[in-house]
Amino acid sequence: MIVLGIETSCDETAAAICNNGKIISSIVSQQVIHEKFGGVVPEIASREHDFLLNQVVDRAITEAKVRISDLDAIGVTQGPGLSGTLLTGISFAKGLALGLGIKIIPINHLEGHIFANFLAQPDLEYPFLCLLVSGGHTQIWQIKNINDYRLLGETRDDAAGEAFDKGARILGLGYPGGPEIEKKAKEGNPLKIDFPRILLDKKSLDFSFSGLKTSLLYYFDNFEETENITVSDVAASYQMAIVETLIEKVKRALVKTKYNRCVIAGGVAANTILREKIKEVNPQTDFVFPELSFCTDNAAMISFLAEIKLNSQSSNSFSDFSFGSLPNLRL
Ligand code: KG4
Ligand code: ZN
Repeated sequence: MIVLGIETSCDETAAAICNNGKIISSIVSQQVIHEKFGGVVPEIASREHDFLLNQVVDRAITEAKVRISDLDAIGVTQGPGLSGTLLTGISFAKGLALGLGIKIIPINHLEGHIFANFLAQPDLEYPFLCLLVSGGHTQIWQIKNINDYRLLGETRDDAAGEAFDKGARILGLGYPGGPEIEKKAKEGNPLKIDFPRILLDKKSLDFSFSGLKTSLLYYFDNFEETENITVSDVAASYQMAIVETLIEKVKRALVKTKYNRCVIAGGVAANTILREKIKEVNPQTDFVFPELSFCTDNAAMISFLAEIKLNSQSSNSFSDFSFGSLPNLRL
C-alpha cells in the first residue's frame, strides 16, 4: 500500500508517504510567519496551508519517487486542532482523493502521535503506557491494544507544551517556546530556583501547570541578571520543574499499571532533559521516544496510522467523504 498523509492541525503544513509500514518521504513546512506574533494566528495559518499544501504534497510524492497515480489512499488529520487549518487539509485531501478515485482515512492527530513510536520501535508490544505531551495536551494513557485506550490522568489547565511556550514568552525568548527554553537552559543551573511541582502531593495522575507559569511570572517581574543568577538559570530551573512533574506522574502510573513499557508522544517528547531523565526512573522499564523529527507535528505519523487503519478494516470502509473537521476530537 502507498498512502499519502496530510497534516494541517496547527502551523505545520506536512505531507508524507508511507509504503508498507515504511516512511519513504516526509516533508514538514513550519510556518515562520507566526514568529512575529509570538504564537499561532489561526486565520493566517489556514491561508498559509492553502498556499503551501500543493507544493508540500508535490515534494512528498517526488521525494518518495512514486507517481501520484500510485497512491492507494490518503490519510488526513481530522482533529483535534484549529478548525480552519483542519478544514484546509481535509478539503485538499478530499479533492485529491476524489480526483484519483481512492479512499480517504480521517485520522486522530493524538493517536498519530502515539503511533509515531512504532516507527521508532516496530516490534513495540501492547500493552504500554503513553505520556502524551504536546502544545494542547498532557495526558497519561494506558494503551491496551489498537483502539483500546484508557485515560489515567490529564492536565487540569495548561498543557506541558503550553507551559514551555508561555514560559518562553515571559522570559523574552522566541516561539515555539520548548526548543527556545531548552537552548537557553543549556548554560543554566536547574537547582538555582525552586519552582513549584504542582499536584505532586495528590495521589491523582492529573497535572497542573498554570500555577508554575504564574510563579515564573512573579519571579521574573523583578528579575535582574547578575553573575550569580542568569536567565539561563531561570530557564533551566523552570524546565526542570516541568520535566520532574511529568516524570513523577509517569513513575506512579507505571507502579499502578505494573507495565514495563512506556512511550512518550507529542512535541515535548523532543526535550533532551525529559528524554535523558525519564530513563533514570527504572532500568527495567523500556522507554520509547519517536525520532526527533516525528515528535513535533508531521505527516509521517498520519500516513503510517492511516495505512494501519486501512489494513485493519473491511474494503468498504473509508469510501465516505462526508466527514468534517473535529477541532475538539478526543482519543
Ligand atoms: O505535538 P506538537 O508539535 O503540536 C501539538 O500537537 O500541539 O507540540 C508542540 C509543542 C509546543 O508547545 C512546543 O513548545 C513543544 O511542543 N516542544 C518542546 C520541544 N520541542 C517542541 N517542548 C520542550 N522541549 C522541546 N525540545
Ligand atoms: Zn501534535
